[in-house]
Amino acid sequence: MNSETIEIRKGLAGVIVDYTAVSKVNPDTNSLLYRGYPVQELAARCSFEEVAYLLWNGELPTPDQLTEFTARERGGRTLDPMVKHVIDGLPTTAHPMDVCRTAVSVMGARHPLAEDSTREANMEKAIDLFAAMPAVVAYDQRRRHGQDAVEPRDDLSYSANFLWMAFGEEQVPEVVEAFNVSMILYAEHSFNASTFTARVITSTLSDLHSALTGAIGALKGPLHGGANEAVMHTFDEIGIRPEESTEEATTRAKAWMEDALVQKKKVMGFGHRVYKHGDSRVPTMKAALDKMIAHYGRPELLGLYNALEQAMDEAKAIKPNLDYPAGPTYHLMGFDTPTFTPIFVASRITGWTAHIMEQLSSNSLIRPLSEYNGQEQRSL
Ligand code: COA
Repeated sequence: MNSETIEIRKGLAGVIVDYTAVSKVNPDTNSLLYRGYPVQELAARCSFEEVAYLLWNGELPTPDQLTEFTARERGGRTLDPMVKHVIDGLPTTAHPMDVCRTAVSVMGARHPLAEDSTREANMEKAIDLFAAMPAVVAYDQRRRHGQDAVEPRDDLSYSANFLWMAFGEEQVPEVVEAFNVSMILYAEHSFNASTFTARVITSTLSDLHSALTGAIGALKGPLHGGANEAVMHTFDEIGIRPEESTEEATTRAKAWMEDALVQKKKVMGFGHRVYKHGDSRVPTMKAALDKMIAHYGRPELLGLYNALEQAMDEAKAIKPNLDYPAGPTYHLMGFDTPTFTPIFVASRITGWTAHIMEQLSSNSLIRPLSEYNGQEQRSL
């Protein structure tokens, strides 16, 4: 091949590498479908459990299927004592994403079906992880505060139980609903960096847990899932002052943004590789954030939020992505900022594993080419 005719697509931007039936991201119509259903409708009408079932099975569950599936998930919520032991051995200064990645790795090494990559075995592993991740995320946050683990409750939904294990208190329905919405919105987004990582690892015929540890590593980065944590750092840098008025918060946020733009900073929570006219998930998550702002009585946060969004739009016409409203929502619920991306992991486990199973159903080793631009051949 002549080097003049070679087109390098940095970051694989715009490259279609395979088919997928899991989800459809359409930036032109600003829509996102999970197995054909608009994500906004799923968020409005379904539980996260139903959406997980949909992603894995291609159809929403019947009432009987949901009962069976829910029982299976509720039966797997307890933190494996060995996983807890390993977490306890990690410093409390370790990033929660590193804890998450380690926990998944331990769960993989301990899984009775570890080396079995049939669809049946992978479905078992996926449901086990789906059920167990909230306990990992919740316990890791608690141990940083010197608190004990809270035992799961099998009379609560996935989202209600997640919050219960994190805070040791039952949350009101509005808060549970906002959390459920976030879990649904985070569940799946086609060939994003972490999902693609999982598919690359799977394509070598490695196992599901290995693919997921790689995916968690990819998600940790601030250009990907780590952005929800980074958004909160921006808010903290500007300063969250619950006592101040919306107008005061707006003025300070605008000043921060002007400075950030002069310094050519990347403002986390804005921009997207695929959506260039706005992220289809933002309006639904923003509505959930609005409810949380009203519930917790924190209008100054809305001042910060709106001011940054407006300033970014005026300066660069770059729109917020899902991480922008999700970060402050988790903050209001009481999660520590470094716990935000692990919550994303607990959700995205569903999408990742759906892709792993899809990859295996028509596998081809993923191995692209590169164009060498180093030293010409030379002799020692
Ligand atoms: N803040 C400031 N400028 C931004 C920006 C942001 N968040 N996102 C994009 N831009 C600017 C870039 O600086 C670049 O400007 P230039 O052409 O003058 O150099 C232009 O927009 C294109 O950005 P680029 O990074 O090349 O686009 P991309 O498609 O490769 O990147 C992201 C997409 C997500 C990596 C990028 O928007 C980003 O880094 N966002 C912040 C992190 C984030 O929120 N990630 C979560 C994504 S869901």
